[in-house]
Amino acid sequence: MIKVDISNVWGDISLPDLLAVEKEVFAAHQTLTERTGPGNDFLGWLDLPVEEPTDEIIRIRAAAERIRESSDVFVVIGIGGSYLGPRAAIELLQGCNHNIGKGKGNPQIFFAGNGLSTRAWNELVRLLEGKDFSIAIISKSGTTTEPAIATRALRWMLERKYGTDGARKRTYAITDPCKGALRQMAEEEGWETFVIPPDVGGRYSVLTAVGLLPMAVAGIDPMDVMAGAVEAKKAYDLRSFENPVWLYAGIRNLLYRKGKAIELFESFEPGFKMLGGWWQQLFGESEGKDGKGIFPVTAEFTADLHSLGQMIQQGERNIFETMVRFDPPEKQYVVGSDAKNLDGLNYLAGKTLDFVDEKAYLGTLAAHVDGGVPVITMDVGELNEKKLGELFYFLELSCGVSAYMLGVNPFNQPGVEFYKRNMFQLLGKPGYEA
Ligand code: PA5
Repeated sequence: MIKVDISNVWGDISLPDLLAVEKEVFAAHQTLTERTGPGNDFLGWLDLPVEEPTDEIIRIRAAAERIRESSDVFVVIGIGGSYLGPRAAIELLQGCNHNIGKGKGNPQIFFAGNGLSTRAWNELVRLLEGKDFSIAIISKSGTTTEPAIATRALRWMLERKYGTDGARKRTYAITDPCKGALRQMAEEEGWETFVIPPDVGGRYSVLTAVGLLPMAVAGIDPMDVMAGAVEAKKAYDLRSFENPVWLYAGIRNLLYRKGKAIELFESFEPGFKMLGGWWQQLFGESEGKDGKGIFPVTAEFTADLHSLGQMIQQGERNIFETMVRFDPPEKQYVVGSDAKNLDGLNYLAGKTLDFVDEKAYLGTLAAHVDGGVPVITMDVGELNEKKLGELFYFLELSCGVSAYMLGVNPFNQPGVEFYKRNMFQLLGKPGYEA
């Protein structure tokens, strides 16, 4: 189990406070698993963990193998819930620089359609020059503007390079099983398709083909990830504060009620940044509604201690932190001894980099707690495929429970439509006239 340590929140919360919300956490958990709350038609993610490979997973593995053999680059098109999960998974397990040195057999993976930047597009076109590539288009609705524009351009690039038939074999669509523009397009063009189940929302879709196909192309076996999710489904069903889901959901709601309206979700691993982005969307879109919600922000330490550190230590006391910890890797780096010692570092000679990192973590924790910032520590354990599956499921479940405690529907995102409506009006999209 992931360990949630709440020993550094007692400055703001008392044990009676925690015990007083026990019934609320229980009710929220029950509402979720009995599927009686708002948004209960979007609870398909609860059942995504599977012990044996489904036909879909077998096809995902086969498609990934073909893509790996035929492509130097795999471009994954999508935005929001159709983008963050796979990128988070790959970067957490393989690092932010995972693309360096890769090619056919183990392709580079780039993400497109997650914005409207011309510079980013030009960069992608440059990166694809002279490269064999395949694409996956991920969109549940099939109508999202950013991925739709990228899709149109990349399809044409594929057709120019490989002809209609060649392009068809290199294009995969991940979308709703029955409806939407992408479904229709995929069927007309004869692309291989994978499914986002109708009862699984974007930000809860990482354990569908949305996450699993890009992971498989990166060499991460979907069933290794599933093994962790299966365990999580069983372990986190527990109805007591021994369940870390209860602790996390309960404490963050209590802190919110005490005026802590911002949560910093952070780790000392640079590869964690996109996982933080995925968490940010999961909690932000699930909870930020009806004038309520904890504002989710992700940070990377120690780097951000040199940017956000001052604000955390001495700024407005409206934040709390969730520090995510992983076991140290097997391969260690030892600081060497230098005869001149001009940098004064010889006091660390013989110590591992991880030892220094650990002390930085403990020092930061103590400083922030002294500064009046409650800190929840989330100890994930070993960083591997299985743990990743467990972490995804754990956070999704925590989010559902926490949002029900907050009294909002965790599974809709009505606010996201507002910018789109204005943009469509400004773009002159038919049907969006003033
Ligand atoms: O979580 C969500 O539902 C959203 O972030 C969507 O995933 C995002 O808007 C992309 O939508 P679609 O998959 O329909 O293109």
